Amino acid sequence: EAVRRKKLFAANDLAAKYYHHILMNTKVGEPALEYLKGRGLTPGTIERFQLGYAPSAWDVLLRFLTKRGFSEDFLEEAGLLSKSQTDPSRYYDKFRNRVMFPIQDAQGRVVGFGGRVMDESHPKYLNTPETVLFHKGRHLYNFHRARNAIRQTKQAVLLEGYMDVIVAYQAGVENVVAALGTALTPDQARLLNRNAEEIVMVYDGDRAGQNAALRSSEVIKETGGSARVVVLPDGLDPDEFIRKHGYEAFERMIRDRSMSVTSFKLQKLREESQLSTQEGRIRFLTEAVRIISELKSPVERESYLRQLAGEFDVSLESLSMEVEVATKSLK
Ligand code: GTP
Ligand code: MN
Ligand code: MN
Ligand code: MN
Ligand code: MN
Repeated sequence: EAVRRKKLFAANDLAAKYYHHILMNTKVGEPALEYLKGRGLTPGTIERFQLGYAPSAWDVLLRFLTKRGFSEDFLEEAGLLSKSQTDPSRYYDKFRNRVMFPIQDAQGRVVGFGGRVMDESHPKYLNTPETVLFHKGRHLYNFHRARNAIRQTKQAVLLEGYMDVIVAYQAGVENVVAALGTALTPDQARLLNRNAEEIVMVYDGDRAGQNAALRSSEVIKETGGSARVVVLPDGLDPDEFIRKHGYEAFERMIRDRSMSVTSFKLQKLREESQLSTQEGRIRFLTEAVRIISELKSPVERESYLRQLAGEFDVSLESLSMEVEVATKSLK
């Protein structure tokens, strides 16, 4: 079993090196290299993240790795080949015509890949399927590079995508990681909680990103961690924000503009509410009080309630009574 794992690491490592070689040194890799440079990545960054290119062919990786002694069914188990539907004795390269992002474990060993198309086709990203080495919900993209910076700053910055992480890292924000696709899992949250006092989430500014931030914040709380949220303007994601406003502006957003999860929830609720009608305002206040009731600290509760009371010109007393009602219905 240990031997097998070692061999799986070796296959993934060789695949990463081969994809990288194709990107950097071959004619077929040129459009992919141009694509990455066009997205603002420097040669040093492409090198550091060992980015690559999987050519538009069915058997490039297959031939390269079988020549080096790996069998086709083993490579399928490694997530690098797919089995033909029509002829189960035939295999082909899983990743074709995609820019390749190697995903490494906490020790820096390649365990899988994300592969991005260079146009608008779907799926935009293809990931390694679950394998013996690759468990999507356990790894965090860039964790092994970010770990020292996370420990030093006592803060982990959680982003949504590969490109966000790479662009932020290139700009000098080194404590950045991303969950691979969906919302944060408890395993991923615990990994961050162990290394950071605080997790700052900077998800995409679109609705999907904001909802994912909300779900992730619950997971962080449930695993005993502490989360804050930064909402980027105009629906931008970190990659777009940094390219548009520069990394100093991004650092300022993280330093000065992060908010508590409660403030984030209240802001989100506010945006989804009809505050122009009295019914809408009452519904907002009732729901806002429910959010505030989830807080354990009476001081914190009161401070949010005071803010609401001031803003909506209602008495703190009536809001506090609402809290009691909400707290009872929670039990
Ligand atoms: P770019 O368009 O290259 O800037 O990528 P992005 O990271 O901004 O993409 P997006 O905001 O759409 O998605 C965020 C992250 O979700 C990506 O980095 C992927 O990890 C994941 N993701 C996005 N699209 C897909 C998909 O089609 N399939 C899978 N498996 N994951 C995806
Ligand atoms: Mn190289
Ligand atoms: Mn998005
Ligand atoms: Mn995005
Ligand atoms: Mn993006």
